[in-house]
Amino acid sequence: MTDRYAVVGNPVAHSKSPMIHHAFAKQTGQDIAYERLLSPLDEFLRTVEGFRAIGGKGVNVTVPFKLEAYRLATIHSACAQLAQACNCLRFDSDAIFGDNTDGNGIVTDIQHNLSVPLRGQRILIMGAGGAVQGILGPVLDCAPAQVIVANRTEEKARRLVDYFLACPAYAASPIRSSSYAALKEAAFDIVVNGTSSSLSDTLPALPPGVFARRALAYDMMYGKGRTPFLAHAREQGGGILADGLGMLVEQAAESFLVWRGVRPATAPVIAMLKAP
Ligand code: ATR
Repeated sequence: MTDRYAVVGNPVAHSKSPMIHHAFAKQTGQDIAYERLLSPLDEFLRTVEGFRAIGGKGVNVTVPFKLEAYRLATIHSACAQLAQACNCLRFDSDAIFGDNTDGNGIVTDIQHNLSVPLRGQRILIMGAGGAVQGILGPVLDCAPAQVIVANRTEEKARRLVDYFLACPAYAASPIRSSSYAALKEAAFDIVVNGTSSSLSDTLPALPPGVFARRALAYDMMYGKGRTPFLAHAREQGGGILADGLGMLVEQAAESFLVWRGVRPATAPVIAMLKAP
């Protein structure tokens, strides 16, 4: 019997996850089917339970259901616990295992695919919503020199940083919050746009000078081409520009590992998605 998986979201029609997981399955010889499940906004539980009842083995979860997925899981990975959100559920016979693979996804994309180490680097992360909460733990685990979380609403950045500093594992980590305006004397080796600003083709109010020479500018958004953030980074001397496509494929590979016990090679799948 072919094992069934799905991505649950609203909207979900644009999701590349079925293509990615089918490519992984072919590559690793795993017999799976993977579909899109559009859930009504107030029926996430019913949608997921319905899929499980017809034999679904697990789901990826996307906007806006990651918090509900966390509440549905009965066991959580450390990453999911820190993020308080799940993008991956595995249905076991007596439990629902919840993981958050976004953080490891971006870390692998930056360090492995883009060959930029995080250790010892000065990192600026823009935004303080769920997307940023999902990646901070794995980023801090790489021992950067400094992580600044900057947000339009500074109070939200402060709350997020305080949350991490209150976790014993991160109490001594070099993380602090900032407004955008207060960044004007600082330069960073890596600047990550974790805001949803690229969705509206806008740019957070970054002061000049935040990109160190040859800095990596990373937009967690994908499929928007040269976003205002990436265009700004290029003008400001950013050296490497990347969108979130690699992160998308890497988080999918981590999900595949959670479900199937094997981690597929991601390079051929990233290349396939980048092909015109
Ligand atoms: P997500 O789950 O994608 O993180 P979210 O929780 O709604 O979504 O958070 C969106 C983030 O993008 C927030 O940090 C938001 O800043 P505020 O907290 O000040 O609202 C940020 N954001 C969205 N549009 C932005 C813009 N045009 N300029 C700057 N920040 C923006």
